[in-house]
Amino acid sequence: MGKNIVVLSGSPRQNGTTDVLAAALTEGAEAAGNAVACFRTADLTIGACLGCGQCFKNTGICVQKDGMLPILEKLREADVLVLASPVYFFGFTAQLKCVIDRTYALLKEGTHIKRAALLVTCGGSTDAAAASVLSTFRQIAGYQGWEEAGTVVVPGLHRRADIEGREELEQARKLGAGL
Ligand SMILES: Cc1cc2nc3c(=O)[nH]c(=O)nc-3n(C[C@H](O)[C@H](O)[C@H](O)COP(=O)(O)O)c2cc1C
Repeated sequence: MGKNIVVLSGSPRQNGTTDVLAAALTEGAEAAGNAVACFRTADLTIGACLGCGQCFKNTGICVQKDGMLPILEKLREADVLVLASPVYFFGFTAQLKCVIDRTYALLKEGTHIKRAALLVTCGGSTDAAAASVLSTFRQIAGYQGWEEAGTVVVPGLHRRADIEGREELEQARKLGAGL
């Protein structure tokens, strides 16, 4: 049976390398009969977590009524989560980190997400440029009890054209199909 997959894509650059990589995963996932909801987090107005703890008192309802609401709704129905981000100064983009922090609102009630995958683009010449992002992803997955479904890291990217024809696009397609 098809799964509900949420892709949180954190690049602010529209149609950039991260969007192309996320589209390849989505294509594979949809072709395999899954339902994919993809959010470009940088296009939404989403405030940073205030750490007020009200979501715990209000069983998962965040005090901030902003672009995070539809994401929280989809995450409550999701089986699989995919994070996609360029490396920005060794980490996720701020626009994705904001969303990750705001998922705090889901901790008390929990979700039925079982698996998670990661897509990373970076300018560095080797996968090592993505080490911090990979490590953060694995720590979050471990904390949440998510099985690691797979990771695709694409180094050496600056302009959009740099990702065209790269073999990692096929890896992302296959990862999507196997989610
Ligand atoms: C603000 C900023 C910070 C970046 N920091 C890094 C970095 O720390 N390591 C790295 O390898 N690439 C870094 N890059 C390069 C991007 O990760 C890379 O070009 C990526 O493919 C951009 O994704 P996009 O095409 O979706 O915008 C940075 C780019 C920007 C704009």
